[in-house]
Amino acid sequence: MTATRLALSTTFALSACQGSQTAFDPAGVEAERVLTLFWIMLAGGGAIWAVVVGLGFYATRVAPEQHSEKAGLRLIIWGGCGFTTIVLAALLFWGLKMMPELRRPADGPTVAVSGEQFWWRVAYGVEGDPGVVRNLPMGGVPSANEIRIPLGQRTEILLSSPDVIHSFWVPQLAGKMDAIPGRVNRLILEPTEAGVFNGACAEFCGTAHAQMGFRVVVVSESEFEAYVQAQAEPAAVVDSAGLDLFLQNGCAACHSVRGTPADGDVGPDLTHLASRRTIAAGLLPTTEENIAAFIASPDHLKPGVEMPAFGMLPNEQIAQIAAWLGSLE
Ligand code: CUA
Repeated sequence: MTATRLALSTTFALSACQGSQTAFDPAGVEAERVLTLFWIMLAGGGAIWAVVVGLGFYATRVAPEQHSEKAGLRLIIWGGCGFTTIVLAALLFWGLKMMPELRRPADGPTVAVSGEQFWWRVAYGVEGDPGVVRNLPMGGVPSANEIRIPLGQRTEILLSSPDVIHSFWVPQLAGKMDAIPGRVNRLILEPTEAGVFNGACAEFCGTAHAQMGFRVVVVSESEFEAYVQAQAEPAAVVDSAGLDLFLQNGCAACHSVRGTPADGDVGPDLTHLASRRTIAAGLLPTTEENIAAFIASPDHLKPGVEMPAFGMLPNEQIAQIAAWLGSLE
């Protein structure tokens, strides 16, 4: 990867391509293939450009008077058409050759992911196809905006959407795959490194499209099992002033906190909110202060978000709700 990094540091030093969301630093089988394909396509495209432009230059500048019409035709046929066709055919062959390997079936867990304006509904241990209609429970163990997957296994992501087309993209792990209303698309993630990888919605889906992120956390198999087991448990803290305020102010109409009367399923499940790295679909680190700020004025932090503002509540009450949510590990 050293050569790649070197090329990167010179070519993309000032661009936004680097960081934990770059396709140039793959940490998954499919992403590695995609990067290889990218370099091969770039080389093939470069070769075609060099030959066609070189011949054009030769024909028009070097010694145009030396060419007969027949020689010019030969240049066009062999240089312009023949060479281009051969390179494009080789690139096509190379691309198609990769497909069977990438389409191998999964041998790991299945995670259902639904892209919704503007967050990601997640469910572990789903059997069969998840519901593709809004608010139809997908089954399994619910979560949101953060996906854990085991290292060394092929995890199948079942993608759907209840509203508009979104696209699920974790550049370091795999290519992008659309989440389309009314159908289920399948994407396999096979990570080759443990770590936290940024994902994004890669299809314009509305005002807050740019803030529809998520995290994929790659852990060992045993950590994955323990995580899903912990997520399946109800909330640990079910007796607090924060919970009372949460229920009184109607938060439960949209959010679930399992183990409490809150069972809304319009917005993200908050049962283990504090176990996730971010709130509001990858927007802010999960801290009590950020939770409070988001409750008070979500549209200010994430324009276009569907959650209404609760800034009319006294700060003290918002802080109590945030403290309770922040304790839900
Ligand atoms: Cu969801 Cu863009």
